[in-house]
Amino acid sequence: MNGNKTGGLAGIIAGRSEICTVGLQGEGLTYRGYDIYDLADNACFEEVAHLLHHGHLPNARELSDYRDRLRSLRALPGALRQALEAIPADTHPMDVMRTGCSVLGNLEPEGDFAAQRDVADRLLAAFPSMLLYWHRFHADGKRIDTATEDDSVAGHFLHLLHDAPPSELHRRTLDISLILYAEHEFNASTFTARVIAATLSDFHSAITGAIGALRGPLHGGANEAAMELIERFDSPEAAEKGVREMLARRELIMGFGHRVYTTSDPRNPVNKRMSKRLAEEAGDERLYPVSEAIERVMWEEKKLFANADFYSASMYHFMGIPTYLFTPIFVCSRITGWSAHVFEQRADNKLIRPAAEYTGPSLRSWVPLAERD
Ligand code: COA
Repeated sequence: MNGNKTGGLAGIIAGRSEICTVGLQGEGLTYRGYDIYDLADNACFEEVAHLLHHGHLPNARELSDYRDRLRSLRALPGALRQALEAIPADTHPMDVMRTGCSVLGNLEPEGDFAAQRDVADRLLAAFPSMLLYWHRFHADGKRIDTATEDDSVAGHFLHLLHDAPPSELHRRTLDISLILYAEHEFNASTFTARVIAATLSDFHSAITGAIGALRGPLHGGANEAAMELIERFDSPEAAEKGVREMLARRELIMGFGHRVYTTSDPRNPVNKRMSKRLAEEAGDERLYPVSEAIERVMWEEKKLFANADFYSASMYHFMGIPTYLFTPIFVCSRITGWSAHVFEQRADNKLIRPAAEYTGPSLRSWVPLAERD
């Protein structure tokens, strides 16, 4: 391996997994053998979470029990609420998620790995609570009760954010978005979680590390960066011109390109359709056309396609979600995939410790301090 062209472990098989395929057949995406389009059309996010964690779709009884269980795990301990209140208002919410996860690991340590599924469920149920407790405390000065009766993670999230249960259109849109974000094989954050799990560290450490990896704009942070880009332009014409200029300056356009997919991201058409629907509902005549213009230029100029983060940006915006909460939504979803990978890693563990190609100086003689320049 040398240089960026062949670096970044591109194309390297770094382990075995039976959870997900990315681009194995064409540009497809499957979770446990189910096509992402089947899941987006027919499943709810809790069914997908169960599928990822247990390897099979839940029956009606299992799904109902699972929903009840997640609902029962939404309240936050007082010490965590105090910690969230102490985090400054201008902190990035991904740092809040990272800290929240870590604090919960102190208050409710995993202990024996036999309890790992309980930890996974707790984090899935509590991430929206943590995020929105902190957000509402600092944005509205309110100490909200996070234990809502909503049936779904999506409904819980939007209810806490807007202080009212969401419309069915918004709830289902976020539900599908959570399904699309739930799992993606050995991406950077999942691989981070597996590396940490492979040292036999605890569950919260693996997930805290994964959140840190997801935060970056080359990974999950791209949806926030994409929104900032889209909002810069007031017309499709301005967007076309602006993006061509950015490309001429060799700037990265966030929300485009992918390490594994080469011609399209299968999640994009679903997100695009949902963004269009919400744009119509909101009477938007700017952000959606601007997004389409950027997508068109990127294909014309670079043959680069929109990835999952591009249209999810405007879609979230149309639901009244502040931009800085976009990447944390990814956490609220991907916790399911991360957990499945931690289970899988632990079930057949081997320390992950690759080797480096050394490019430093050859062996040198020691120079005493007094003789150095
Ligand atoms: N905007 C502009 N140019 C891009 C680009 C983008 N979003 N993505 C890739 N390119 C260009 C690179 O500059 C490079 O050009 P070069 O060969 O002239 O140097 C070429 O396409 C290959 O890209 P490379 O960075 O080697 O691909 P990668 O596999 O290492 O990176 C990503 C994949 C996702 C990190 C990259 O496409 C990117 O940075 N995208 C923007 C961030 C993003 O949306 N991340 C979310 C991913 S789901």
